[in-house]
Amino acid sequence: MLTEQKVVVIGGSSGMGLATARRLARAGAHVVIASRSEDKLNAALAVIEGKADAKALDFTDEEAVRRFFEAVGPFDHLVLMGAGLPAWGKFREIQTSALESAFKNKFWGCFFCAKYAAPYLRKNGSILFTIGGAARSAIPGTAGLAAVNGAIMCMAFTLAKELAPIRVNILSPGLVDTPAYDWMSAEEKQGFYQQMGGNLPVGRVGKPDEIAEAALYLVTNGYTTGAVLDVDGGGRLH
Ligand SMILES: NC(=O)c1ccc[n+]([C@@H]2O[C@H](COP(=O)([O-])OP(=O)(O)OC[C@H]3O[C@@H](n4cnc5c(N)ncnc54)[C@H](OP(=O)(O)O)[C@@H]3O)[C@@H](O)[C@H]2O)c1
Repeated sequence: MLTEQKVVVIGGSSGMGLATARRLARAGAHVVIASRSEDKLNAALAVIEGKADAKALDFTDEEAVRRFFEAVGPFDHLVLMGAGLPAWGKFREIQTSALESAFKNKFWGCFFCAKYAAPYLRKNGSILFTIGGAARSAIPGTAGLAAVNGAIMCMAFTLAKELAPIRVNILSPGLVDTPAYDWMSAEEKQGFYQQMGGNLPVGRVGKPDEIAEAALYLVTNGYTTGAVLDVDGGGRLH
């Protein structure tokens, strides 16, 4: 399906990005995964079956992003799944510095990557942004997440027209079991997943492979652009 196509997966060393890189490689793509940690990238390469390369990149560094895409050269699809710590918390308690850091470590990284990748993307290619359920529903305590992810989503709608015929889509995961929650103890994490997942129509949190299947669809479906795909266990219905 993706034979002879090159896909860059930013954040491809962990969680949903790694699951997506694995899925795309299984579909025949040559994947290039990028993130900051060489150790994580090497561990990820070891579990990707298919053609894969890795390159260290901090996507908050504009000049490094420019050089990264210059080195990659022409390619087909850009998948953006990288993010640093989000700014959780009630609106009146959010620290400005935490929200600034969240914008830096997600919005600005996505902005730099899309901007410097665009000249190298083939005309039948695509960009896939990953946002998050907070931007798709009004959940108290997630205004900071909604702001960062909503900014990405609105930018992406415009890009779907401005960069056409390159397709631009948005994947919106709900709560998914990934290393993003490894700052909790195993016990805390289990309780958190049970509580949050139990409130969802599907009764559980998501798995990275379920997001990877959705990403494969958005990357490969030539008639889909400017779309938001919610893969959130029905979370936006609350
Ligand atoms: N997990 C969830 O419940 C959830 C829900 C909704 C939305 N999301 C979104 O889904 C996406 C994937 O999340 P995940 O849970 O799979 O996260 P994850 O497992 O923590 O992986 C994050 C990835 O981003 C990379 N990264 C972080 N900062 C970076 C930087 N400055 N430059 C380049 N790469 C960077 C990390 O690698 P390095 O550390 O090596 O840089 C890692 O590969 C994110 O955009 C996240 O906001 C997650």
